[in-house]
Amino acid sequence: MGRVRTNSGPADELLIKLDRDAGVPLHRQIETSIRARIRAGLMRAGASLPPTRTLATGLGVSRGVVVEAYQQLVAEGYLVSRSGGYTQVAASMPPASAASAASTASTTQPAARSAGLGAGLGAGCRVDFGYGRTDVSQFPRAAWLRSVRTVLTTTPNDRFAYLDGRGVPELHETLCDYLNRVRGTAAVPGNMVICSGYGQGISLLIQVLVQHGARRIALEDPSSNDDARVLAGAAGLDVVGIPVGPDGVQVDALHRADADAVVLTPSHQWPTGGVLSAAARAEVIRWAERRGAIVVEDDYDAEYRYDRSPVGAMQGLAPDHVVYCGTASKTLAPGLRLGWLVLPPHLVADVAAAKVLADRGSPVIDQLTFADFLARGEFDRHLRRMRPVYRRRRDALLGALRTHLPDLEPAGIAAGQHVVAWLPPELDEAAVVTAAARHGLAIHGVGPYRIAGTGPGGLIFGYATLGEAAIAEGVALLATAIRDVRAP
Ligand SMILES: Cc1ncc(COP(=O)(O)O)c(C=O)c1O
Repeated sequence: MGRVRTNSGPADELLIKLDRDAGVPLHRQIETSIRARIRAGLMRAGASLPPTRTLATGLGVSRGVVVEAYQQLVAEGYLVSRSGGYTQVAASMPPASAASAASTASTTQPAARSAGLGAGLGAGCRVDFGYGRTDVSQFPRAAWLRSVRTVLTTTPNDRFAYLDGRGVPELHETLCDYLNRVRGTAAVPGNMVICSGYGQGISLLIQVLVQHGARRIALEDPSSNDDARVLAGAAGLDVVGIPVGPDGVQVDALHRADADAVVLTPSHQWPTGGVLSAAARAEVIRWAERRGAIVVEDDYDAEYRYDRSPVGAMQGLAPDHVVYCGTASKTLAPGLRLGWLVLPPHLVADVAAAKVLADRGSPVIDQLTFADFLARGEFDRHLRRMRPVYRRRRDALLGALRTHLPDLEPAGIAAGQHVVAWLPPELDEAAVVTAAARHGLAIHGVGPYRIAGTGPGGLIFGYATLGEAAIAEGVALLATAIRDVRAP
């Protein structure tokens, strides 16, 4: 039992009883105890918690265990971190449903993504390997605030009026500099359209491709099933899947597809994690040039490559045939809804017009803020800080898989925020996913993302929001679930 008196009086005492034989991780026991006291009204809003070091000493645990518990409760909305490094009980309690969902998951980010984007946190879920998340608890609030303040104090009033569909010139310029420097694009400010993330970007593009006479679009198989595939079907385009191998899409199948456009994730195929080879990139470009086709390059997470510099964007090879799509969803926060397109010149006016029709332009203050944030070098700084965080989580995942599930086969390059691991042939993917859910583990299989519906079974591990202890716990739960499937 650790009995720690905080500096705010007897009502704020933390009476935490740790049971080292319970089989429940210590950080979870600390979380549960503090959460229950807050919910019971025993810790009032604004009460300070003991410093992590003090509580760790009092409980006889390492400081990291307490930090993980505090971070989880901050993510759930029970606690807030204050500058100066102290932590307080939040002013208002999170809604019961969100709180109870989040309280069962070992994530640093409680909110499930909307249907289809990541696994939801169902009742009884202990660890959630849902994909498509970013650790928003790491959002660079202070630096972003400096940029907001700069924008609000320096921008003339007339800049807050309606804009054209392309977005603000300051952001076109800073993004071009960034993309040409870091991603090897050949972007020019006049060819950019700012949009609400990739989701809107691909929607605008599909509309415009249809206006320009497109009939058929090729998509990677497997690939995400909640954007291009749905939008293209709704717009009346034929959708054809191009099989993906270890090195990305198989270009010979693209030649047979008779498509007017192809959507690719060449720097880090989603979900299987391969990178399109230089030869295949050149071949895809030749295909596009010969057919007058468009390559849509979804560069969703290229900033996170852990073993070397990322391969340059395809757009730099053929700016007249490739639409480059970037997003702040992986690097800053999906809720910002900030994305950007670098377009072949002949598509710019129509995409900008579609953007005006869709929403009359993206919010100007956010665009100017992001431009200032980029220009100050804060984006680079944030990425330098985040790469080792995600890399450690990825290493923890691969280490746990090696230890507990050596016959699963992780695929793909050292990059991004998720890993696919292939299952041995005797294990049925759906049975493993179902058994995992019974053990409190949310995880997606690769199957639902296939277009032709065939291929080896695999699991998608999203690790971006999970601490290393939660990752280890999740893999241990999976190992138990797989034992059940093997010996029912
Ligand atoms: C393959 C892929 N592309 C792009 C995105 C980003 O989408 P958005 O920018 O709309 O948030 C995601 C999000 O998970 C994704 O999985």
